[in-house]
Amino acid sequence: MSRMLTLALSKGRILEETLPLLARCGIEPQEDPDASRRLIIGTNRDDVRLLVVRASDVPTYVEHGGADLGVAGRDVLLEHGGEGLYDPVDLGIARCRLMVAGPPDGPPAGRRPRVATKFVHLARQHFAEQGRQAEIIKLYGSMELAPLVGMADLIVDLVDTGNTLRANGLAPLEPITEISSRLVVNKASLKTSPGGVGALIDDLADASQAAAAS
Ligand code: ATP
Ligand code: PRP
Repeated sequence: MSRMLTLALSKGRILEETLPLLARCGIEPQEDPDASRRLIIGTNRDDVRLLVVRASDVPTYVEHGGADLGVAGRDVLLEHGGEGLYDPVDLGIARCRLMVAGPPDGPPAGRRPRVATKFVHLARQHFAEQGRQAEIIKLYGSMELAPLVGMADLIVDLVDTGNTLRANGLAPLEPITEISSRLVVNKASLKTSPGGVGALIDDLADASQAAAAS
């Protein structure tokens, strides 16, 4: 039997948007990973299994060999550093933008803005590149709340439809970068199993191109 290939995914939109690509490659989970409490899910292929991990943990699992491959947002990869990983394929899923957002008329002038975000490195880099001073406040989610309670002047967050910002009286102010999810691969896995890992990379690349064209 060929070597087991382990693919790390996160519950929610990445799983939802990756399963159709896996289906195009002929890979079907043995149970619904979103509904199951199991963290390791077998598939119809004896040599492929799925790991269900937190979105921000995908690069760590792949880097440290807990998984051979994974699907992670470009935001997570940029924030994490992504060293030690190949990221050979843009799967074109979970598309959104990393943005600076805040009150529609912008932050109060004349003082260093306080910026709430879970993307501390990306936010710091964005303001530094522009030669602007900013105080970065680390949060783990629901960043939109911070300006509403006067804790921050701006946020750096992901924006898709803009509905979350609008619902909280905020507006997109500056784009930082376009985001989609990428296939990431453990470098050693590719060396030790070029046939298995390499073939799955090629199949997923073809599947994402076919999905984009359909
Ligand atoms: P964690 O569980 O680690 O806190 P999370 O809750 O941010 O992660 P998701 O909300 O499922 O996880 O997001 C996974 C990825 O999907 C993000 O890293 C980003 O690349 C992308 N994403 C996030 N929000 C959106 C959105 N509104 N529209 C499209 N893609 C998005
Ligand atoms: C993401 C992001 C924004 C929202 C943007 O949150 O952090 O809050 O989506 O999408 P929109 O522009 O279409 O409203 P998500 O829905 O993933 O919630 P969570 O990360 O807090 O779980």
